[in-house]
Amino acid sequence: MKNLPLLFCGIFFALAFSYTGLIVSGNIQLGALEPSTETLVPSDSEVDENGQPLMVMPEGETLYPRKPSGLAEQGKKVYIEMGCMYCHSQQVRRRGFGADIDRGWGPRATVARDYVLQDRVLLGTIRTGPDLAHLGGRYAGEAGRDWNHLHLYNPQIVSEGSTMPPFAFLYKKQEIVNKPSEKALDFPPDSEYAPEPGYEIVPTRRAEALVEYLLSLKIDYSLPEAVIPE
Ligand code: HEC
Repeated sequence: MKNLPLLFCGIFFALAFSYTGLIVSGNIQLGALEPSTETLVPSDSEVDENGQPLMVMPEGETLYPRKPSGLAEQGKKVYIEMGCMYCHSQQVRRRGFGADIDRGWGPRATVARDYVLQDRVLLGTIRTGPDLAHLGGRYAGEAGRDWNHLHLYNPQIVSEGSTMPPFAFLYKKQEIVNKPSEKALDFPPDSEYAPEPGYEIVPTRRAEALVEYLLSLKIDYSLPEAVIPE
């Protein structure tokens, strides 16, 4: 092997080239992104390289994306463990790149800044089911919570013919003592999936966290580079 140094140089350059192309350039473009206010205002003291007032964040306004609650963070772990990502994406494409916005999957396209607070970004590549980036905007409040629990327990209850698998093992069946639990699933009348009389289905802690996470997925804010159209 008289060309060993040359071989090593080749390997080194192949790795260095792809590292620079994929990681360093990506980091230069997006690495400094931070949460932002919805709009920017011209600064009264600083100017940019063209002498125009620099656009800065107004003081005291909320920063987006928001930090998720602790329970939602736990739910994200359940989402990962259950493999929801193999059927659901979390990215809304721009108009002209698919019908995502027309389908109501989000009021605007998602941009890199929407993901800056996430340590594991679950963009997903396969859409056997709908995109979930804005699920919490479509199913809100207590009604949204109830719908999602029934749907996870068995998608057929609220979405007949669905090919999504049931996640009934995230729920437990228990005997009703004295009065029904507040958390018990509220089955539609005569549902064939309801437990027998005297029993109720309640979510486990993991199911509660998962639904909290799903409801926290919301694109209800503008960003300077991605404004929600009127
Ligand atoms: C085998 C593919 C598959 C897997 C795995 C899967 N889903 Fe689904 N999901 C679907 C399909 C198909 C639909 C559309 C039909 C329906 O509403 O059930 C759907 C619908 C949904 C909806 C309703 C979306 C809407 O806009 O109405 C939610 C919420 C959802 N899934 C959450 C989950 C969660 C959470 C997991 C993991 C615990 C999961 N899915 C795993 C296929 C899947």
